[in-house]
Amino acid sequence: MFKSVVVIGSGNVGHHLGLHLVDSGLDVLQVYSRTEAKAQPLAGLIKTTYTTNLEQINPTADLYLLAVSDSAIAEVAKALSFSSTLSPLVVHCSGATPQTVLSEQFERFGVFYPLQTFTKERVVDFKQIPICIDANTVDDLKLLEHLAMQMGCPVYPINDEQRAVLHLAAVFVNNFANHLFHIGEQILSKDQLPFDLLRPLIQETATKVMQASPAERQTGPAIRGDQVTIQRHLQALETWPIYREVYELFTKSIQKS
Ligand SMILES: NC(=O)c1ccc[n+]([C@@H]2O[C@H](COP(=O)([O-])OP(=O)(O)OC[C@H]3O[C@@H](n4cnc5c(N)ncnc54)[C@H](OP(=O)(O)O)[C@@H]3O)[C@@H](O)[C@H]2O)c1
Repeated sequence: MFKSVVVIGSGNVGHHLGLHLVDSGLDVLQVYSRTEAKAQPLAGLIKTTYTTNLEQINPTADLYLLAVSDSAIAEVAKALSFSSTLSPLVVHCSGATPQTVLSEQFERFGVFYPLQTFTKERVVDFKQIPICIDANTVDDLKLLEHLAMQMGCPVYPINDEQRAVLHLAAVFVNNFANHLFHIGEQILSKDQLPFDLLRPLIQETATKVMQASPAERQTGPAIRGDQVTIQRHLQALETWPIYREVYELFTKSIQKS
């Protein structure tokens, strides 16, 4: 069982995981950010120490959680060094990055990927967050499984290839869906209509796919083949060429699915 953790990265994920690790009974020994402005508030909330210098990372923890931007994982890993007698487990939190990015630096490495969208300001319910884990040894996979369970999360052993697929699907259902909400908001605001009008529809769309396959729940002019409406919408989008392209692509994708 892990007892102590160092959280490297004080962004959205570092913030939420750091707080929840403490709530789950772990000792967060230290948090890191490049800036004091970010490290200090998180350390204050967790009631722990912080550093802005990777050379001053506390070397005595059982687990090191790299919650830094995907593009910084390799660079941060290179800056960390532990004596071979300690050999702690080092994991990153990225869906899009293979665990092998850590293999050159560390004897024990893995992934602890929480499959949810995090922003600091939003409270999250960890009981509803699948944690996708991987590790280079069976023993460490078991330790990570135990940790996720201790945090009250559903846990899934997922290898690099599977996680890449999962992350791709997550980009569609989360990032792209959210961008579509943004397009809807822009279209309404051109005619001074409030986004609130769409919120119940968004809620019902998400609720419906909790009970059935999205393929069975598709509605709208594309699936009905309602050409008159489609042409009217395309005309209305003439001043937004990119959104017009998106509309045409989505219509084609729905009709070919
Ligand atoms: N947000 C999500 O919804 C989500 C969900 C699941 C997994 N993840 C994964 O979790 C990880 C962190 O994401 P996040 O959303 O927490 O990102 P974030 O809010 O943008 O925070 C990124 C953190 O990385 C640090 N960082 C960036 N470049 C760095 C560098 N060159 N050297 C050292 N530190 C650097 C930042 O440092 P400063 O504090 O100094 O700016 C910050 O602490 C990523 O691997 C991401 O893929 C994110």
